Amino acid sequence: MKLYKQVKEILELVYSGSNLNLVMDQYKGIEDEPRLKYLVYGVIRYNFALEYLIRKLSKHPNDKVQTILFIGIFELWFSNKPNYAVVNDLVEFTKESFENPKIASFVNAILRSFQRDKESLLSELNKDYSTKFNLPNWFIDKLKISDKPNYLSIISGLSYHPAFGIRVNQRKIKLVDYVSKLVNANIEYELINNKLVLSEACAIEKLPGFFDGEVSVQDIGAQYVVDILTRNNVSPKFVLDACSAPGGKACQILENYDCDLLAVDIAHERLAKVKQNLDRLNLSAQLIVGDATNQKWNKDHQMFDLVIADVPCSATGTIKRNPDIKLTRKLSDIDNFVMQQREIINNLWSNVSNDGYLMYITCSVLHDENQDNVTWIKANLANSILIEELQILPSLHNDGLFYALIKKHNG
Ligand SMILES: C[S@@+](CC[C@H](N)C(=O)[O-])C[C@H]1O[C@@H](n2cnc3c(N)ncnc32)[C@H](O)[C@@H]1O
Repeated sequence: MKLYKQVKEILELVYSGSNLNLVMDQYKGIEDEPRLKYLVYGVIRYNFALEYLIRKLSKHPNDKVQTILFIGIFELWFSNKPNYAVVNDLVEFTKESFENPKIASFVNAILRSFQRDKESLLSELNKDYSTKFNLPNWFIDKLKISDKPNYLSIISGLSYHPAFGIRVNQRKIKLVDYVSKLVNANIEYELINNKLVLSEACAIEKLPGFFDGEVSVQDIGAQYVVDILTRNNVSPKFVLDACSAPGGKACQILENYDCDLLAVDIAHERLAKVKQNLDRLNLSAQLIVGDATNQKWNKDHQMFDLVIADVPCSATGTIKRNPDIKLTRKLSDIDNFVMQQREIINNLWSNVSNDGYLMYITCSVLHDENQDNVTWIKANLANSILIEELQILPSLHNDGLFYALIKKHNG
């Protein structure tokens, strides 16, 4: 019962707007953490289907027990715990949580009805994309209007479990030699565009060479900075990473180029994570807390030949990893992100040297934050030329990310 109490508490916090990762941090290391995560993430991932099922099962829904019913239906649907035990345990838990015995009878009746009519109820979920792919309607509608050719591939790509990408530190070990280490450790992998995805999530303690800085955990969709720079013959010397935490892109750049890098982030505590990653990988950079919407930086009085703007965004490309986004993000948030993104890139443009580059990156799948911002850049930033635009669609192997490389020509 203690586990159900914790799951209910976490879900209620997330449903009232708290950030899932921050809430989960408080439960790190507890006895039954894997099962706690399985239930919490599972319920949030299947939220839209669960809401539909409860609406179908109860004529007079009772908000007080909604979370208990979410947990119960999710377990009856997916877990290997025997059905009778799921129902008994949740009815007991309801009795402990509410004095009124009618509430426990209500939970009992709903869970038993689901058990009885499970097959036909589940088949109804396919009639609607929101319940089939477990995404909010505003998001599906927006994608359908702005990206008709890709929208089905995006919504289905967001419905998998998150992939486990890793990035090999070229300064420490060659890709081919690291692959041999995986084989020796019996860790299954796939190579996609020269990037490694493990077949299953792996604890970092078990990842060969992690503590020696040979490898980092990073979604492969987030590993395209170096591919783009290489194919456009850009080899940076002075780099500003203006929204740098936790440092995935900054570390990848330092692993591949001999350059000076200034890592800025507005969040002091997140910048500490950049430092931790640099130390583990035996890399170095200058770190500064700062605001990319209005501050200017230079490196020994020089402008930067590469400025990375991996801007705050809707993070809709990472919904598999951060499923609470589909509950908390609203249509009206998108315009605010776009405004902030334009403020940041406008400010950062003056940090780019003549003939230097701005790399604009989001982990969003929405045109407003991606292609539309590139159109805005071309129209508003003096002497800007688009060199390459790359939309990585979410898939079984990766999150969805967007990249644009823009050159400041010497006008
Ligand atoms: C998408 S994350 C960056 C991920 C990072 N580049 C990486 O590869 O690991 C966006 C970051 O922007 C930071 N941020 C948000 N607003 C900012 C601002 N006005 N100035 C600087 N950093 C900001 C956030 O704290 C967050 O760490």
